[in-house]
Amino acid sequence: MKTTAAITGVQGYLPDHILSNEDLSKIVDTSDEWITTRTGIKERRIMKDGASSDMGEHAVRGLLEKTGTSAEEIDLVIVATVTPDYPFPSTANVICDKVGMKNAWGYDLIAACSGFIYGLATGAQFIETGRYKKVIVVGVDKMSSIIDYQDRTTCVIFGDGCGAVMLEPDTEGFGLQDFMLHSDGSGRQYLLQKAGGSAKPASIETVEAREHYVHQEGKQVFKFAVTNMADVSAAIMDKNNLTSDDVDWLVPHQANLRIIDATANRMGLSKEKVMINIQKYGNTTAGTLPLCLWDYEKQLKKGDNIILSAFGGGFTWGAVYLKWAYN
Ligand code: ACO
Repeated sequence: MKTTAAITGVQGYLPDHILSNEDLSKIVDTSDEWITTRTGIKERRIMKDGASSDMGEHAVRGLLEKTGTSAEEIDLVIVATVTPDYPFPSTANVICDKVGMKNAWGYDLIAACSGFIYGLATGAQFIETGRYKKVIVVGVDKMSSIIDYQDRTTCVIFGDGCGAVMLEPDTEGFGLQDFMLHSDGSGRQYLLQKAGGSAKPASIETVEAREHYVHQEGKQVFKFAVTNMADVSAAIMDKNNLTSDDVDWLVPHQANLRIIDATANRMGLSKEKVMINIQKYGNTTAGTLPLCLWDYEKQLKKGDNIILSAFGGGFTWGAVYLKWAYN
């Protein structure tokens, strides 16, 4: 049987500090009622001290311990993030150094909220070709570092968090079965950080115009997200001849409960099959999907058919179909 890339462990990390809807209503003109009904979010975590690599370090150390792996055994680390420690070097390099993964190389991958599925699909290639035995894919974002806490349309949505998975070869048919990934750069105007890159380097003007924060035109993004996340999730089912009975779990990007519901409906899935933790963590961008797997890990069974699906800035979107590899 051909070699597939199986997830053999998952670990999350969340900072301790909780920012509730109640707390936010004291900072901006909003309410628990508005946030809950429009998004499903009740609270989110905020990292007070430290960077994305610190969350990554915690998650990866936990993952190594849990899977009984030494840091030296890791071949490659892919870090999906839009909040790297620095423009360069990569956060993957920093995490490798902090954890002592001396034999690994690594790189960062930017695909906003689709970062983790892009990373999963990419990391799997190195396993499927037989080149590597142990690849770690990290999804991490310290969104609080690029959120404007004067902008009520974005500050209520995002939180900080990290998840990491181990990918290893499998020859029994478990692991990653298929993926469908898309991007459409013409959507970049609706969801982006305007300044700080080569298009608009940092200046006094960009800081004064608050252009180093997330800019999102929520209504536009919502429209594209609902359609594309539902379409790609249904498409990967069709492509793999999966009925709604065959799918055990949907792992949807946690941006908005209404987008999650629309995707699940389109796939014909009942609520019990949908992983949801948006109420606790908000949108942690590249962190949402591995954090869902981590939260639901105990309920997963070997052989479960799982569809991960996401939509994010870029625009980027897609779905991954995998068979869970362990009990
Ligand atoms: N509290 C109270 N009122 C608010 C708040 C708030 N926090 N935010 C906005 N409002 C107001 C608006 O000002 C507007 O008022 P108006 O009608 O007087 O102008 C009203 O509420 C409705 O605003 P909308 O933007 O139309 O609200 P909507 O129902 O669309 O919800 C939201 C906004 C939650 C952002 C939604 O559009 C959404 O989820 N969009 C998609 C987000 C997404 O999927 N992003 C992609 C992933 S993120 C990434 O890749 C980094």
